[in-house]
Amino acid sequence: MATGFIFSASLFFLLLLIDCCSGSFIGICYGRNADDLPTPDKVAQLVQLHKIKYVRIYDSNIQVLKAFANTGVELMIGVPNSDLLSLSQFQSNADAWLKNSVLPYYPATKITYITVGAEVTESSYNTSSLVVPAMSNVLTALKKLGLHKKIKVSSTHSLGVLSRSFPPSAGAFNSSHAHFLKPMLEFLAENQSPFMIDIYPYYAYRDSSNKVSLDYALFHASSEVIDPNTGLLYTNMFDAQIDAIYFALMALNFRTIKVMVTETGWPSKGSPKEKAATPDNAQTYNTNLIRHVINNTGTPAKPGEELDIYIFSLFNENRKPGLESERNWGLFYPDQTSVYNLDFTGRGAIDMTTAANVTRSNKTSWCIASTKASEIDLQNALDWACGPGNVDCRAIQPSQPCFEPDNLASHASFAFNSYYQQNGASDVACSFGGTGVKVDKDPSYDKCIYMRDGNNITLANNTTALSSNSSSQQKRNYSSISMYLFVIIYLFILLNIQQS
Ligand SMILES: *[C@@H]1O[C@H](CO)[C@@H](O)[C@H](O)[C@H]1NC(C)=O
Ligand SMILES: *[C@@H]1O[C@H](CO)[C@@H](O)[C@H](O)[C@H]1NC(C)=O
Ligand SMILES: *[C@@H]1O[C@H](CO)[C@@H](O)[C@H](O)[C@H]1NC(C)=O
Ligand SMILES: *[C@@H]1O[C@H](CO)[C@@H](O)[C@H](O)[C@H]1NC(C)=O
Ligand SMILES: *[C@@H]1O[C@H](CO)[C@@H](O)[C@H](O)[C@H]1NC(C)=O
Ligand SMILES: *[C@@H]1O[C@H](CO)[C@@H](O)[C@H](O)[C@H]1NC(C)=O
Ligand SMILES: *[C@@H]1O[C@H](CO)[C@@H](O)[C@H](O)[C@H]1NC(C)=O
Ligand SMILES: *[C@@H]1O[C@H](CO)[C@@H](O)[C@H](O)[C@H]1NC(C)=O
Ligand SMILES: *[C@@H]1O[C@H](CO)[C@@H](O)[C@H](O)[C@H]1NC(C)=O
Repeated sequence: MATGFIFSASLFFLLLLIDCCSGSFIGICYGRNADDLPTPDKVAQLVQLHKIKYVRIYDSNIQVLKAFANTGVELMIGVPNSDLLSLSQFQSNADAWLKNSVLPYYPATKITYITVGAEVTESSYNTSSLVVPAMSNVLTALKKLGLHKKIKVSSTHSLGVLSRSFPPSAGAFNSSHAHFLKPMLEFLAENQSPFMIDIYPYYAYRDSSNKVSLDYALFHASSEVIDPNTGLLYTNMFDAQIDAIYFALMALNFRTIKVMVTETGWPSKGSPKEKAATPDNAQTYNTNLIRHVINNTGTPAKPGEELDIYIFSLFNENRKPGLESERNWGLFYPDQTSVYNLDFTGRGAIDMTTAANVTRSNKTSWCIASTKASEIDLQNALDWACGPGNVDCRAIQPSQPCFEPDNLASHASFAFNSYYQQNGASDVACSFGGTGVKVDKDPSYDKCIYMRDGNNITLANNTTALSSNSSSQQKRNYSSISMYLFVIIYLFILLNIQQS
């Protein structure tokens, strides 16, 4: 009993410590609805490379759980809607699920949240009535193991749970969901679990661009909206949507429940009608979002309130149905190259729209490997650049700054660019038989510095250390942690924003 007490007490203080000193965190959703993604091991490396500390997955896939073991990355795992029936029916099913799917990997894999069901109000089956019983059973299973304080249980929602979201002060839950929402909110309040919401200003803008300005959706301070009931000033739609949730909760007298954003983002490409789905807008939204939440700015109704968010999504997912934008929410292509650059720390100084302008106006350009190039063509071009092309390829050798990510496209990009810069940065110097493409943003990352016009730090001296013989290890994957601005692959999302 005494040990039990000490254990709980230290847990309590630990939680207090975590609570008191942590700021809002930025995580990322790792959806896997694609047939071309890297293996979970590679993904765990990618996530760590970008210093991402929080990852949300939608199931409890064993390979993924194993891949994140001992990485320090905190995982939010999920019970898919299809499993709600079984987990809601019998406690023993929840016990078994936890025992088989979670326990073997815990605590090496740091699991901190379990989402039981996702956006059930969007589901075509009437699964909503199963959610709370399933959550209760999962919680009971955790309690039996003494893990209920370390692993929080909740469920995610789309903004469709609200019947009104504007003005924010009029935010209200749709009463047709009351049958499961009320017990769920009681559950969350009792267990100090957050209310999880997926927020997409992109959809609100796309579906009513005559009423909603792009600036407002993209956090450009120039636009503002005043809530007539409260006088609160909103400079972005994200805050307005979050506050609509807070007001809806307060209207039901749930004042202590915290809100957590389990998905938000912006697609980088869409169908011809989806004009706002561009890499620039996606970069602007996510950059401004991160800066907005990183130092606990809070929202107009809850200034200074910590707000944790997960950006949707890590990868473009080619098997998602729907409009083209649905397959283009990723920060990364499946080959692990960046769709656009994103600073997860929120400390980068530049406003992206201006930055893009500046870089373009004074024509520094770089040359990298095209994502459309075949592996064989890339390998040949790389061999050529590092051989007859006289490029110094030492930087892409093992343990050198540009070796990671260890894949063909990344290595080729580095070599192509050096050749290009050494040879007058002319278009033809970036041809490589069609496998090279020019970009106007610096692909450098970490300590891997790409040569640029003028800084010809080259040593065309020792060309024996060529990379051609690393080809076997390069066969695994392709590409660079750089940014390919205009290239394409497809993905998805399943949300339905209602905002008016
Ligand atoms: C879903 O199930 C609940 C509880 O069984 C019921 O109250 C509700 O009306 C159902 N909703 C629909 C749309 O069938
Ligand atoms: C509330 O939810 C019901 C059932 O999903 C839906 O038919 C209705 O349109 C919603 N009401 C509002 C105002 O969104
Ligand atoms: C957030 O932090 C940045 C950088 O430290 C600072 O410039 C900005 O003013 C802060 N924002 C708020 C609302 O405190
Ligand atoms: C970008 O450059 C153009 C032409 O130089 C200028 O008119 C425009 O205002 C600039 N945009 C921004 C956001 O600086
Ligand atoms: C780059 O900018 C400098 C200074 O503004 C200017 O002198 C130079 O001509 C520009 N170069 C190009 C290629 O536009
Ligand atoms: C860069 O280096 C290459 C070979 O070392 C040389 O031929 C070329 O003229 C240099 N370019 C510039 C701009 O210095
Ligand atoms: C080229 O090699 C010579 C010796 O072979 C060496 O002294 C020189 O520093 C090298 N140059 C560079 C740029 O590495
Ligand atoms: C060239 O590089 C290789 C591998 O780094 C090294 O073994 C060799 O001595 C170098 N040769 C010269 C001339 O620098
Ligand atoms: C590179 O690999 C090829 C075949 O794998 C081999 O024939 C060749 O000798 C290797 N070259 C070096 C320098 O190791």
